[in-house]
Formats: sequence, structure tokens, C-alpha cells
Amino acid sequence: MVQQTREQWGSRAGFLMAAIGSAIGLGNIWRFPYIAYENGGGAFMLPYLIALLTAGIPLLILEYSIGHRYRSSAPLSYRRITRPAEAIGWWQVAICFVIAVYYAVIVAWAARFAWFSIGQQWGDDPNAFFFEDFLQMSEGPGMVSGYVAGVAWPLVGVWAVVLLILALGVRNGIEKANKVFIPLLVVLFLVLVVQALTLDGAATGLNALFTPDWGAMLDGSVWIAAYGQIFFSLSVGFAIMVTYASYLRRRADLTGSAMVAGFANSSFELLAGIGVFAALGFMATAAGTGVEDVAANGIGLAFVAFPQIISTLPIGGALFGVLFFGSLVIAGLTSLISIVQVIISAVQDRTGLGRVQTVLLVGGATALASILLFPTPEGLHFLDVFDHFINQYGIALAGLVMIVVFGWIARRLPMFQEHTNAISSIRLGLWWKVVLGVVTPILLGFMMWDSLRTELTENYAGYSTGFLLAAGWGLAIGAIVFGIVVSLFPWKRADALARQDADTEDAVTKEGDR
Ligand code: ALA
Repeated sequence: MVQQTREQWGSRAGFLMAAIGSAIGLGNIWRFPYIAYENGGGAFMLPYLIALLTAGIPLLILEYSIGHRYRSSAPLSYRRITRPAEAIGWWQVAICFVIAVYYAVIVAWAARFAWFSIGQQWGDDPNAFFFEDFLQMSEGPGMVSGYVAGVAWPLVGVWAVVLLILALGVRNGIEKANKVFIPLLVVLFLVLVVQALTLDGAATGLNALFTPDWGAMLDGSVWIAAYGQIFFSLSVGFAIMVTYASYLRRRADLTGSAMVAGFANSSFELLAGIGVFAALGFMATAAGTGVEDVAANGIGLAFVAFPQIISTLPIGGALFGVLFFGSLVIAGLTSLISIVQVIISAVQDRTGLGRVQTVLLVGGATALASILLFPTPEGLHFLDVFDHFINQYGIALAGLVMIVVFGWIARRLPMFQEHTNAISSIRLGLWWKVVLGVVTPILLGFMMWDSLRTELTENYAGYSTGFLLAAGWGLAIGAIVFGIVVSLFPWKRADALARQDADTEDAVTKEGDR
């Protein structure tokens, strides 16, 4: 026998919790509110909804279908669709590695800030506290100039929790953790939003978020932001959903699950926007300024504006802080687990190593990279550039390439449509193929081109060209090269697994036909 029995989710609810846990993350609480605000406020909702319906959900269904049909990690599943596509799978594994190393750091900051909230340890100047006292941030990027213990030890803690859960396995680790974390997150967050809505000035904040700037809809970058947000937030384009769906039972409602996960994620995102802007409205009112003055950009929003809000609250500041930062930690952990699982499952398929060994080796190496690079004065500069480039030219580009290769070159959309319809509640019609095969690639291709043009004319965030070449372009292109190189090595096990799984495929199709 080449393959041990593949792990499976214990129940559909368990899979859904894990899929929702992966989707709801820092992207919803930390990223969505400021992206929506910067990109037209209320008018952003339309591009966002269009991106959800034309790219998010259809691609989510495709990823579910691929994972479910081939019941293997991304590289192996893609290889079985068409041999050269294995490279896309390893590319996505590299993307997940890059995201995991910096994502964990933000979770670690949030854990530390939940603690700082008790007693408001940031004092009178949360901005100086975050950037100078806590991160000890350097003026600009460059050679690593020190090590910040106060960031390092919570980061070690985050990685210990993630690796422990992963080592326990899909059903006993990931599924059980999500079944506890997700309901807890929803309760914590609802209490937070209710508290935020009762504050003076909450309506001012909501007006700022939802008042549409219709002109923004004519701006291409607003559409790119909407598609980028949907990809990041729904966890599509980085193979997470291929991986999670590979542990589904044969009979699984793929389209129904995609709808539930997609709408749960967007509802949470909207809730986060409401909670965050109600709180910002309160702060602007208290400070006698406009919301635009307090709505700083992403990182600042969570770690500078929120401490300010917490300190301004007449009562319940500590509770508000613990709820907010605690929610960030929980949401971040469940997403981080799913990101690292993509790497673990790929390496397990490739090497045949057991789960615990792989978690220790590969998860340990990922953790080490994260712990070495980010708790440094230069860490935030790396994080900023990694995040920008890997989102624009990693996730979104990989999503586009997947569609082009599987839809246009291998022409497998009809096959996946049939596979999905055989087992799902909502049937995929012609619309799915048209949206995925025509609308999404054209829109996404145009947007890629447009953002590439901007990228080449203006240095992102004013960083030096040398730094952007090394840490931005180098990283994005390096991930592609890694994918191609790894896929070139012979993989005898893969062919043996493919032969073995051919029987499974037949069985699935026959079962579906019944
Ligand atoms: N989907 C995850 C998030 O929103 C990665 O943070």
C-alpha cells in the first residue's frame, strides 16, 4: 500500500466550522473596515458584492470540487488534472509559507495587546507606544539591527498553539479547535459590536463608512481592492479550500457549503465594519474631529486607534479591549491553522512522512523563519511589503492562473461541474462556467495589468527600489520559481497514488450518479 487512509472531517458541521474559521480572520476585522473606507465607503459594497458573486463563490466552489474529487493536497490534485499544473500547487504552498510567517506576528501583537488593555498599559500616546516602545521599529528597512523579546515570546506562544493543534490532526485538532473557537468568536464579537453601537457618536462613524462615494466606482483601483479583499478574506487562491475539501467524505454538499461559508464570512465582515466604525465615530466625536482623522490605515487602525478608543471610554475600557484583541487572536489563529495546513498536507503527500513528523519539521521551520525575522526593529517593514506583494502578485495572480489553466487550457470546468452537481444541493448551471471561465479571468486580468502599471511607476509606500526588488518582487517571483522547480523533480509516489485513487474517483462518480 502506498497511501494510508486519508483523514476525514468528523461531520459536515465540523468541516463548515473549519472553512468559516479559515475565512474569518485578520482580513475581516483588521483589513476590511479600512479597505472599505478608503475605497468609496458605501459605494465599495457594490464592487465587493460583485467580486463575491463573480469570483469569490465560483472559485470557492472550484477549489472545493478539486479537493473533493482528488482527495489530495493542492500540488498532487493539480498534477492529476494536468501534469504541469503541479507547479501552481507548489507556488500556492510557497504563498502560504510567506503569509503564515507574517500573519502569526499580527496574532502575537493582538495577544499582547489584549493583555495591555487591562490597565491600558500604552499610556497617553498609543502611537508612540506601538511603534517605538512595543515594536522598537527602525526608521527604514535594512539589515536586521536587533531583536525584540516582547514580540518574540508571544509569537513563540502563537506557534506552539498552532503546531499543537495541527499535530493533533484534522478531526481531533483542527475540527475540534474550530468548534470551540468559532462560536466563542461570534459571541465575543457580538458583545463588542453591541457595546460599540451604544457609544456616543456611533452613528457618525457608520455614516462615514456607509456614505457612498459613487465616483470611486469609476476608479479601477477600487475594483482591484474589492477583488483582493474577497480573495484574502474568503481564503481562495491560496489552496486552503482545496486542502480542506480533500478531507471531506465522498458525499458532501459542495455548493451548499460554499454558499454558507461565503455568506457567513461576508456577514462577519460587515459586522466588523459596523463595530469598528461605530467605535471610530465615538472617538472622533470625543476628540471633536472628523472620522477621517482617526481612521488611520490598517495596522494603525487596530493597534493605535483602538487603544485610543479604549482609553477614551468612560467605563468598560478593559472589557472592550479584551473583546477586540481577543477576537483578533481567535480569528487569526483559526485562519493561520488553515494556511499552515496547506504546507503540511503538500509535504505529507510528497514525502509520505507522518503528520506529527511533518508538523515538527515543516511547521517548525515555518515557525522558526517567522520567529527569527519579525520580532526585529525592521520586522514591520518586511511585513508591510510581504503583505502587499504576496496579495497582489501571489494570491490574486495564482487564482487567475488556476482559472486559465484549469478552465481554458485543460478545459476541466465541465468535468468539475458534473462532479459537483452529482453530490450537491444547489446545481451549477451554465452561469458558473461563464462567470468563472469568462467574466472572472477578464476582470481579474485587466485589474492585474492595471495594478502592475501603477506598481511600475510608483514605488509602493515610498520604499527604495532595492528593498522592493528584494523583499517584494523577489518574494513574489521567488514563489513562482519555487513552484516550477519543485514540480520538475520526479515524483514516483504521485503516480502510484494516482493509480490507486482512480478507483476512488470512479466510486465517487458512480455514487453520485445513483
Ligand atoms: N481568510 C483569512 C483572513 O481573512 C486569511 O484573514
